[in-house]
Amino acid sequence: MNPKPVTEESIRYAVELLRQGQLVAFPTETVYGLGADAANPDAVGKIFAAKGLADHPLIVHIASAAQIDDWAETVPEAALRLAERFWPGPLTMILNKKSAVPSAVTGGQDTVGLRVPANPVALQLLQAFGGGIAAPSANRFGHISPTQAQHVAEELGDSVACILDGGPCSVGVESTIIDLSDGIPAILRPGRITRSQLKAVLQTDVRLSPQSKIRAPGMMAVHYAPNTMALLCPADTLIAMTDDLCAQGKHIGILAFSAEIAEIPCLHLLRLPADAELYEPALYSSLRALDNLQLDTILIEQPPDNEAWAAVNDRLNKATV
Ligand code: TXA
Ligand code: MG
Repeated sequence: MNPKPVTEESIRYAVELLRQGQLVAFPTETVYGLGADAANPDAVGKIFAAKGLADHPLIVHIASAAQIDDWAETVPEAALRLAERFWPGPLTMILNKKSAVPSAVTGGQDTVGLRVPANPVALQLLQAFGGGIAAPSANRFGHISPTQAQHVAEELGDSVACILDGGPCSVGVESTIIDLSDGIPAILRPGRITRSQLKAVLQTDVRLSPQSKIRAPGMMAVHYAPNTMALLCPADTLIAMTDDLCAQGKHIGILAFSAEIAEIPCLHLLRLPADAELYEPALYSSLRALDNLQLDTILIEQPPDNEAWAAVNDRLNKATV
């Protein structure tokens, strides 16, 4: 499936496919989504078939906050405040669902994830379609999320009816997910919108759910890079390991951001910006590029342990679906 340039005609075509219950991959500011009509359980079922997974709660993308109550049973004041401040944008809110929301969309849960994406192509598509579009990231289960249309084509081939090419994603890591379905708001997945920003708007505490806590650095199985062993380590360890591995004749790739590492003589060294907001848009395409080189090991420089890097640390520390 070749990505299609975005024109009025390709948007109309994509809308028609969605209405017929087909899958359409589309750009968002975070990553590309694999979309289906969220009101059509058969269409949503095709997402699971294409991704190779089942029973995974999906985010319903909507054109504006005015559509929240098409999907959510109760809309807390907190949700309205966050929507006002951060939508369109990389924030997903988990709310109690309306009974009509298909359980295929929510993984059988009583809650639904909602987001208004900030990408102009996504918004054009949503406005023209009118309803909600259920969409996970447009990668095969366990792989790296796609941040360019070509990545989607490589991941999904012909299991998607249309891929809209909106260019590279500007944010590059998946949305922040905040659970507002009961009690104290909780971040289920860190993203570009930080806990401090959320707290400032809500004027309440915002918890970090245990699963989003940063794990101790060290060896990790990068489930989204199954062919290449990847290690996350501080700069000094990385330099020492590079010497060791190269002495053993291993082919290595390095993903780094600090100046001292840029000096290492390594054929496959990708140096990303040392600013998290500039690093994020390059993260997945860099991992993908290194993963395609059939290397023995990828060494990734451990980012600082602070809020600005929370999304990157989360993605580097755990496999994402
Ligand atoms: O930035 C994003 O959020 C991208 C773009 C396409 O919008 N989408 C994305 O979808 O990352 P996905 O399926 O790869 O990740 C969605 C996450 C999952 O971890 C899922 O568990 C969580 O959202 N989620 C969705 N609905 C939920 C619900 N009702 N309760 C709890 N978690 C939910
Ligand atoms: Mg995903």
